Amino acid sequence: MIPYHYILNSWYVAGFSDEFEVNQLKGHKICDKPIVTWRTQAGEVVAFDNRCRHKRMPLSEGRIMPDGTLECAYHGLCYDSSGACVAVPSHPDGNIPTQLQLTSFPIVEKDGLVWIWPGDAANSHDVEPPATPEIASGEWESIHSDPMQVKANYLLLIENLMDITHFYPLHDGNIGDIDNSRIPIKLIEGEVEGNRFVKTIRHVEGYQQPPFLEDWFVYDVVDRDHTHCMVSPGLTRVEMRVAPPGELDQSDKIRGYTLFHTHTPIDDTHHVWRWCVNCRVDHMSKGDRTVSAAQRVATMFPEVVAQDLWALEKQQEMFEYSDDGYMEVFLKPDKALRRIRQLFSRAQQAEQLAKKDQELDKVPLKSVS
Ligand code: FES
Ligand SMILES: [Fe+2]
Repeated sequence: MIPYHYILNSWYVAGFSDEFEVNQLKGHKICDKPIVTWRTQAGEVVAFDNRCRHKRMPLSEGRIMPDGTLECAYHGLCYDSSGACVAVPSHPDGNIPTQLQLTSFPIVEKDGLVWIWPGDAANSHDVEPPATPEIASGEWESIHSDPMQVKANYLLLIENLMDITHFYPLHDGNIGDIDNSRIPIKLIEGEVEGNRFVKTIRHVEGYQQPPFLEDWFVYDVVDRDHTHCMVSPGLTRVEMRVAPPGELDQSDKIRGYTLFHTHTPIDDTHHVWRWCVNCRVDHMSKGDRTVSAAQRVATMFPEVVAQDLWALEKQQEMFEYSDDGYMEVFLKPDKALRRIRQLFSRAQQAEQLAKKDQELDKVPLKSVS
């Protein structure tokens, strides 16, 4: 059995920006860590260990006071937006032990997403949260899902997103398009701002679009680039660009979408999945010129997502059995999946080694005399 775990040292999405209202406490579990977040009155999102330093009460069960401090629901200790304890009601002398400081997590709001780093904070300086410019741009219509909790390791979702050979039969009746799964893949990989990416490109010319794609993107026969990129362990970006044959280099002719999928581990067997559809604001559907392409895609998408979610949870259930002679087989179009598994496996081994090193450092050396 493959030890499906998660990479701790990475930026993960804690939510879309609009999920964070001013003074609203939110409790999260990300990579097995309890985290509380809120947007301060100054508009900044902050993140701390969700355990009150007094008796572990989840701080997300507390409330934000008129002065902007977080009051714990149990004995009323108050913390400011730097995580410092500023009031202990049971200490009438005003004494506040310095150990009451909350542990903070690096958190960055960028391009409509709030990113959090659950790993070693010192490592976060070498990596930038991935860019999602379409979400922040007024030139794109951007429609996103609610957060969905999935009972499966997040790597299963990443593999699902990088693999379109499952469109038939899993998505038969909506996006099922068997011709799509036979298009050869070009694999690219590299690093952008500290994030290792793996990307596939499927290029076709003179492609007859199935009716749903013709409705979204207007043309019947197209040249097309379809790319799937695991941008980082926290984000997968899917792009479809179509144009009439021979015109893919003319930007005014291009139709298509950018889909973002965010995958945030809760623990080894659960994650939170969010998706976001982006199309140019002035692109309307062919079937109904009053409905935008983005709305058309977003209307169809939940049914597709429900099918994937069903498959992911079924796959995860099968990890309960010992491999005992069982082995997964990679097929030709699975080369990106194989590469991603290698990258994950190496990153996890490196993290486990680093953890062991840290534990060894804590063992007191006995002097031999
Ligand atoms: S547990 Fe929070 S104040 Fe006691
Ligand atoms: Fe799917």
